[in-house]
Amino acid sequence: MSSWPSTGSPPVVELRRATKSYPGGVHALRAVDLTVREGELLAVVGPSGSGKSTMLNVMGTLDTPTTGTVEVAGYDVSTLSDSRLSALRARHIGFVFQHFHLAAGRDAVDNVADGLLYAGVPLKERRKRAREALAQVRLDHRGSHTPDQLSGGEKQRVAIARALVGAPRLLLADEPTGALDTASGTVVMQLLHELNASGTTICVITHDNGIADALPRQVRFRDGEIVSDASSAARTDEVTP
Ligand SMILES: Nc1ncnc2c1ncn2[C@@H]1O[C@H](COP(=O)(O)OP(=O)(O)OP(=O)(O)O)[C@@H](O)[C@H]1O
Ligand SMILES: [Mg+2]
Repeated sequence: MSSWPSTGSPPVVELRRATKSYPGGVHALRAVDLTVREGELLAVVGPSGSGKSTMLNVMGTLDTPTTGTVEVAGYDVSTLSDSRLSALRARHIGFVFQHFHLAAGRDAVDNVADGLLYAGVPLKERRKRAREALAQVRLDHRGSHTPDQLSGGEKQRVAIARALVGAPRLLLADEPTGALDTASGTVVMQLLHELNASGTTICVITHDNGIADALPRQVRFRDGEIVSDASSAARTDEVTP
């Protein structure tokens, strides 16, 4: 599924000339063009402050570009009302963050069930699907544990279950292994590989070159620009700055 370039597959997300500027002359993104196609598993790498999270948030419609366009599942997101944008996000996109973002005091089942809050699914069904998603990340035995009763790796697996419970086409992960030890990080990356093999398109920001090199495609950032975009099989398409 993850062969790149998979030119025959439809784009899941497309950025065209996307910029993001902040007052004071900060250019977090400078005319970024990126197409991510169905079935891809790609790493986004680059120095701190180079614009990786900004791009992921723009791809996931958590943030809007200053100029340029973002298309998700074929929709130009700037043309959608807030409610249609929320529906698009709920149907198509899952997020995983470095520090898990789980709700304290709520058990794993409820944290995962919250991933369906905006999908119009009744509570009982949300909990049922949450238990299935926890089984998918092999945490069915931890459903009643609250975040303070889970290890870091387990917390991230709960967060992955929450992201995948709505069966998103696109999973966006911002340093998902950044707060984990090597062994837990390996388990998390194995899960992402499995999800990709079953059809989910995945973008992973990472500082870990070993992780990036193990993925089929690497997009490298510097100063708000993509400076290279390569597949592991053939790193021949360096972009000349
Ligand atoms: N709300 C904001 N206001 C002003 N500047 C911002 C804001 N958010 C981000 N920036 C700036 O935009 C640039 C890109 O930030 P971004 O968070 O995308 O970097 P990053 O590549 O994810 O870095 P890291 O690896 O440290 O997470 C940085 O220079 C940052 O200071
Ligand atoms: Mg970041």
